[in-house]
Amino acid sequence: MKIFEEIESEVQCYARSFPRVFNRAKGEFLYDSEGNQYLDFLAGAGTLNYGHNNTQFKQGLIDYIEEDGVTHGLDMHTLAKGGFLESFSEKILKPRGLEYVVQFTGPTGTNAVEAAIKLARNITGRENIIAFTNGFHGVTLGSLALTGNSHHRQAAGTGLNGVSRMPYDGYLGDGIDSTSFLDKVMSDSSSGIDKPAAVIVETVQGEGGINVASFEWL
Ligand SMILES: Cc1ncc(COP(=O)(O)O)c(C=O)c1O
Repeated sequence: MKIFEEIESEVQCYARSFPRVFNRAKGEFLYDSEGNQYLDFLAGAGTLNYGHNNTQFKQGLIDYIEEDGVTHGLDMHTLAKGGFLESFSEKILKPRGLEYVVQFTGPTGTNAVEAAIKLARNITGRENIIAFTNGFHGVTLGSLALTGNSHHRQAAGTGLNGVSRMPYDGYLGDGIDSTSFLDKVMSDSSSGIDKPAAVIVETVQGEGGINVASFEWL
């Protein structure tokens, strides 16, 4: 379809690697406009990796819209949000003895990261965030500062401050425990690395290559 070249911005990412027009999605499969089937190993992505159009979710959504449920309510209290919080508390928090409160950020990964770093900075009164080599945390300014990839960071067009980068598990080669470097700089007030407000780490790095941190390192 020419329309994508004609009027869609060149600020695209995955579309460049998949020059297809997708039309349908069900479970773990995507279908292009010519009917070709693709196994989608992400089966959705991020917080929605339950497969495409998961049958149970789909029916729930259809029922909700059919009943004219509130679909844009800012952060106001709705019955749907109350129901979600009750289930979350019963099924996730109480069985684990977790005394957490819930903050509803925007729907994307980077929204959650931005909220987390703001919270950490506000509560600790510190600015520095420790992030890791090859890390990817999103492309809004705060998250971008934490992201390793220079191509993504340079797109910011402004300085990205308040972050110290540390070597991820295995970054310095097999047999070198990069946590000992972190430990050293954190225990030396002359290391030049300020005490952080937070440390952000992916247990499995995705965008930066599939790097899996060991349990011992974590
Ligand atoms: C580990 C990690 N954090 C944050 C993000 C950003 O998520 P989003 O693209 O939904 O903003 C991603 C996206 O790939 C991610 O892999």
